[in-house]
Amino acid sequence: MKVLVTGGAGYIGSHTCVELLNAGYKIIVVDNLSNSKLVALERVKEITGKELEFYNVDLLDKVALYQVFSNHRIDAVIHFAGLKAVGESVSIPLKYYHNNITGTLNLCEVMQAFGVNRMVFSSSATVYGLQEDVPFSEEIPLQTTNPYGRTKLMVEEILRDLYVSNQNWSIALLRYFNPVGAHPSGYIGEDPSGIPNNLLPFITQVAVGKLSELKVFGNDYDTHDGTGVRDYIHVVDLAIGHIRALENVLNTAGVKAYNLGTGTGYSVLDMINAFEKVTGIAIPYQIVDRRPGDIGTSYANPTKANKELKWVAHKGIEEMCKDAWRWQSYNPNGFDTKVKHKALK
Ligand code: NAD
Ligand code: WQD
Repeated sequence: MKVLVTGGAGYIGSHTCVELLNAGYKIIVVDNLSNSKLVALERVKEITGKELEFYNVDLLDKVALYQVFSNHRIDAVIHFAGLKAVGESVSIPLKYYHNNITGTLNLCEVMQAFGVNRMVFSSSATVYGLQEDVPFSEEIPLQTTNPYGRTKLMVEEILRDLYVSNQNWSIALLRYFNPVGAHPSGYIGEDPSGIPNNLLPFITQVAVGKLSELKVFGNDYDTHDGTGVRDYIHVVDLAIGHIRALENVLNTAGVKAYNLGTGTGYSVLDMINAFEKVTGIAIPYQIVDRRPGDIGTSYANPTKANKELKWVAHKGIEEMCKDAWRWQSYNPNGFDTKVKHKALK
């Protein structure tokens, strides 16, 4: 079984490549390396002891994409490739719409030309927007607050239209909550460029001494300690969710949305405390104003994925922090770090 993984050199894509190879799939990765490094895929090969094929191809280059499909008999696609920074999407919306939407349109057209109609798509809990009530289940009305979120919502709708036009398509829309952590080997992990936007990479960079202190965005939310509550999910649990979704799309037809989250929310202070507990490193922080656009509480109702995909997240908050720290401490400069790894040796 051959699976094409777009964006497979990225954070979630590389972890999913590990699980795909471990599960016996052959994989072809297409990535333009705009937000990732090739060394991530070298490490995927070292972790698994298996090979994969890589094409440095931009989804906006339809001719090159067509060539990839000509070279292989592809059974299904897992589509991670996209730009993902919310703030940047507000500054350069056209780039986000073009990359995330035109890229997906090209992919679907080429898939259609080759009769490939099984897809797992990286959507996001961002499609729930500013909701009052938690947990979020898949049926609540969708709304988004920024161009990045709108690209996810639009692609979901495009994929639904595709299925209406041809019921041979089978598509899973995976709405991730807050992916964190890293592979337990410490070999691959999240490598944000510049100052991290997300909480856990910020905490690990404070811990490793790259940043001086964390700014906690608001302590006046209606939560148990006033700080924002999120559904953090270990990236390995998330990657395994893709294997379950792939099995599902290979064996059924339709377009189905699934929340991939734990169903439990933790606050910013909970995350700081858990990180300090498992690492013994103090995280200096300062409470500042709320970040515009943030909501107080977000967590998933993951029942549909639990039942239909037979998937459940197993890894808890301490494992998330421990694995994130192992990755950061072995690789203080991310994939640019020139160190001999203690991991796997
Ligand atoms: P990432 O940036 O690490 O990975 C995305 C990969 O796609 C990168 O390797 C990048 O080089 C590649 N890419 C981007 N545009 C491309 C194009 N036009 N052609 C070919 N390759 C291209 O991001 P990630 O965190 O691994 O996220 C993967 C997917 O999951 C994205 O679609 C993202 O929007 C979505 N998602 C991420 C999160 C999160 O918090 N990390 C949450 C919800 C959804
Ligand atoms: C988590 C909590 C912050 C940083 C974002 C995107 C979303 C999705 C995942 C792709 C919040 C607080 C954060 C900091 C802080 N991505 N925080 N200080 O905002 O839930 O989701 O990433 O689809 O679309 O919006 O994640 O990690 O940025 O924030 O206090 O320096 O940590 O206010 O409560 P978020 P996050």
